[in-house]
Amino acid sequence: MSHEVAVVPGDGIGREVVPAAVDVLKTLDVSLSFVHSEAGDKTKSQRGKALPDETREAVADADVTLFGAAGETAADVILPLRSVVNSYVNVRPVRAYPGVDAVAPKTDLVFVRENTEGVYSGIESEVADGVRTLTRVVTETASKAVASFGFEYANHNGYEQVTVAHKANVMRETDGLFLDAVERVGANRNASYNTELMDALAMELVMHPEEYGVIICPNLAGDVLSDLGAGLVGGLGLLPSANIGEENALFEPVHGTAPDIAGTGVANPAATILSAALLLEYLGHDEESTRVRQAVEAVLADGPHTPDLGGTASTESVRDAVIARLT
Ligand code: NAI
Ligand code: MG
Repeated sequence: MSHEVAVVPGDGIGREVVPAAVDVLKTLDVSLSFVHSEAGDKTKSQRGKALPDETREAVADADVTLFGAAGETAADVILPLRSVVNSYVNVRPVRAYPGVDAVAPKTDLVFVRENTEGVYSGIESEVADGVRTLTRVVTETASKAVASFGFEYANHNGYEQVTVAHKANVMRETDGLFLDAVERVGANRNASYNTELMDALAMELVMHPEEYGVIICPNLAGDVLSDLGAGLVGGLGLLPSANIGEENALFEPVHGTAPDIAGTGVANPAATILSAALLLEYLGHDEESTRVRQAVEAVLADGPHTPDLGGTASTESVRDAVIARLT
């Protein structure tokens, strides 16, 4: 079965790393078709809108999307695109790679984060002069969906350790519901897991990251803890992510448009190529996904390296080295 990939490079280094990842996908023995669309700062200045309707439709119609990054218009592009794919879960694998300097070289964990609610509900108001409130929204449906995805992901990818982050001792109603829903899904699946208070977990992650596998978390906790994870493995150029929806999904590097290096041809394409590997996994091409990941790992181990990793290589030579490992 052929799958359609919407390709939205965006701005800055998005225009360099996304084509590199598409070139990698094109060397594989999988049936994919590509539809190219525009979004971001340049699109806004040319067409008045950062996210044109055609792009929104292309993403909605495609099986999967590969997105780069948008500049100043990032919030006008990526938040609506995540809702176009109706994404209830954000997956962020955080791995240390041999050959790359990392604070915690044994790290191999995956954050599975609720992607739509919690304190990011957007429901804020000024109730009196100098007093503002925020409504934290937690639903059983989203909590169960994230839990099911997290347990399934752990099972499918051989992670024995599943941790549920929460603060139900304080946020009794909202995190109480989240924890309850996750525990019910875990019990139904006969899954083994631990629950941890998210503040204690932050400390444990710094001290013993190698003891963790899949971490299921509410939205804000996942946002904060996954950036902590990025700090453990040392590099924005290395972190991929997936926004999983009910019918389709969007894959993107965690980094932005890197205006300081954009146009110089030295952006590290690894995060985007690893995002393409997640895209393959989502489409059921597990073997090809693993091959791509291993090819990136081999290049990270042996070089060539772009300047962010201490080397002098170009985006294209890293792309070519990855492709050489695949063919
Ligand atoms: P950034 O991730 O673009 O850059 C931070 C630093 O990391 C820079 O020094 C950059 O050169 C470096 N870096 C990032 N990715 C790299 C790569 N692949 N290879 C080598 N070095 C890399 O974050 P920053 O500077 O905070 O934001 C720049 C622009 O990107 C802003 O306009 C922001 O709005 C946008 N942005 C967009 C995002 C999105 O579309 N999802 C996410 C984050 C930022
Ligand atoms: Mg964040």
